[in-house]
Amino acid sequence: MHTDQWGHEVTAASAEAVEALERTWMSYLGLRLETGDLLGEAFEADPEMPMASLTRGNFLQLFSFRAFEGKIDQAIAGAEAAIGKHGGTAREKLHLEALKAWRAGQLRRTLEIWEQILLDNPRDVLALRLAHFLHFYLGDSQNLRDSVLRVMHAWDETVPGFGFVLGLKSFGLEESGNYAPAEVAGKHAVEINAEDAWATHAVAHVMEMQGRHRDGIEWLEGLSGNWGPVNNFRFHTWWHLGLYYLETENFDKVLELYDTEIRAESTDDHIDLANAAAMLARLEMRGVDIGDRWAELGEVCARHMDDHMFSFHDAHYIMAMAGAGRPADVEQSLKSMAAAAEADTTEGLIFKQVGLPLCRAMVAFRNGEYGKVVELMAPVRYQVFRIGGSHAQRDLFAQMLAYAAVRDGRFDLARALMSERVERRPGSSTNWRWYADVLDGVGDGEGAAAARARAAEALAA
Ligand SMILES: [Fe+2]
Repeated sequence: MHTDQWGHEVTAASAEAVEALERTWMSYLGLRLETGDLLGEAFEADPEMPMASLTRGNFLQLFSFRAFEGKIDQAIAGAEAAIGKHGGTAREKLHLEALKAWRAGQLRRTLEIWEQILLDNPRDVLALRLAHFLHFYLGDSQNLRDSVLRVMHAWDETVPGFGFVLGLKSFGLEESGNYAPAEVAGKHAVEINAEDAWATHAVAHVMEMQGRHRDGIEWLEGLSGNWGPVNNFRFHTWWHLGLYYLETENFDKVLELYDTEIRAESTDDHIDLANAAAMLARLEMRGVDIGDRWAELGEVCARHMDDHMFSFHDAHYIMAMAGAGRPADVEQSLKSMAAAAEADTTEGLIFKQVGLPLCRAMVAFRNGEYGKVVELMAPVRYQVFRIGGSHAQRDLFAQMLAYAAVRDGRFDLARALMSERVERRPGSSTNWRWYADVLDGVGDGEGAAAARARAAEALAA
């Protein structure tokens, strides 16, 4: 039995194996490219270390690819065999149980087990970071915040990885609307480690939500030189920079960022696909010619049309496939999605109640059936949080509903929706511009002129 740097007992053949696992977890917290290689080193040091197999299984789950299920089953079998042969600690056995629950699609049970691990092992950064991921994709912003706050009693600057935990804390605070303390925690984390992409990103969210676009551009451009060692998550930090430039109406810059950073590589990670689809959709709603960029994206998304791991991903995949003019793929995906919505899993119910109508709305939007978009989206708009993702990401759907209401001539509804938006984010020029169009629609020329003046003000700010 060995002890890791956080004080956990670890079943392993050697101290070297444990150290390799520690490096893997630290790299995971830093969202670094070499994480997989480091896990390989842990396996090399001890092919029968339960926690190495469990880490592999969890990393594979994170991809959210249906095609990885066989490999995940192998990792589970590997962990079970290793625990059977060498024994395992209570913590390791709980990790095994959690991974099996995740593989079975029982996401709330999975989270219960990770949270149970964290009660006794508040420095188990694997449980902590994975819980952050699933709380996020269940749209549970309270637990996204509190899951991290609950372990802070066991953390200070002397504990390895403290900065990364501050980054998690920052994002949890931000998503639950606690912007000032979120910014403090995130900036502290970045002071500790300028390559901490998650903390950098948490602060970017604060600036996005507060409409501080110029601050955001300065923040991200100042730190972007540090993202070389960061895995594909760097595309998402670039996406945030693109969002700021959208608000400054520098659309050429957004397209340039799309081609050179956000979609620099034709990858099929769900985060990358969501970034790209959301950015193209946002550009189109602003009247920007995006060329044939949907084609590449739709083709890649079609590879995952039957995955249905999270409604959040599917909404973006459908958007891209529809945008690329692939109606047969869209139809097939909606068909298998309806089947997935009947599964007795956590996400099955979310698909049934939110994901399916939302995805159908994405298709109607592409077809210009704006009345249908309103019919599908308006009843679920306050349930969309359940598909997960951030407030900034889900705002796309709110934008689409307002856009559709205007196009459908539903100016009463559109005025109400845009009234909400300008009240909540008065720094957004887009919001004021759309509000002006709506006010024109209801015959309030004076109000429209005032709204256009506010758009110009926001743009100049
Ligand atoms: Fe984000």
